[in-house]
Amino acid sequence: MKKKIKILNSEAGYNLAAEFYDEKEKYLNSFEQGRLLPLLGDIRDIKILDIGAGTGRLSLALAKRGAKVTALDISEEMLKKIKIKTEIRIETVIGDAENLPFEKETFDIVAAAFLVVHLKDTTKFFDEVYRVLKDGGLFVVTNINQKTPPLVKTKDGEIIIESFYHRPERIREVLESLAFGIEEEIFVKENEVQVNQILVVKK
Ligand SMILES: C[S@@+](CC[C@H](N)C(=O)[O-])C[C@H]1O[C@@H](n2cnc3c(N)ncnc32)[C@H](O)[C@@H]1O
Repeated sequence: MKKKIKILNSEAGYNLAAEFYDEKEKYLNSFEQGRLLPLLGDIRDIKILDIGAGTGRLSLALAKRGAKVTALDISEEMLKKIKIKTEIRIETVIGDAENLPFEKETFDIVAAAFLVVHLKDTTKFFDEVYRVLKDGGLFVVTNINQKTPPLVKTKDGEIIIESFYHRPERIREVLESLAFGIEEEIFVKENEVQVNQILVVKK
């Protein structure tokens, strides 16, 4: 008999998957093709919040370039991996993207890579990003073109983590409705097929 695959929310799912997540690093990088970091320019001493930071794939790269990074994630097990990987100071915070535990106008830059695919509606999240960004601050967000959630490896076998597809036009529409100005939009392609949307917007 075929075993039924469990569908878990992000917190439960990523807590189980954390042990194996970094095996996917190359695969995830391929969806960005090195195009995300150059968009940020010189980030030395800049305060950056990485939301849905996971095991620190992006946080580490930002910290190595001299940024003061805060990594927030809903999964404690994912965040624990960051501390094991580096001695560079990265503040880790367990929290929800839709209810950020920071004062208004705290960060120069906010980043969120491969996160919105786990949010049913992006409005509350983008509104929170707007609140914690300083005036003139940048928000860099990626939106993977993924209509079917992949099977995710965990110590208890494969699972599915709850995911939601967002049309690129909808992402832009919500950001603009909250008064973000679009600075840059990149559609990353693989064999002519769009695999990722990367947006840089300004408060
Ligand atoms: C696909 S991983 C991306 C991790 C990292 N940004 C990267 O690019 O490798 C998605 C991450 O978002 C986190 N996440 C999902 N929903 C969240 C929420 N509501 N608030 C904060 N983090 C969330 C998950 O726990 C997971 O670590």
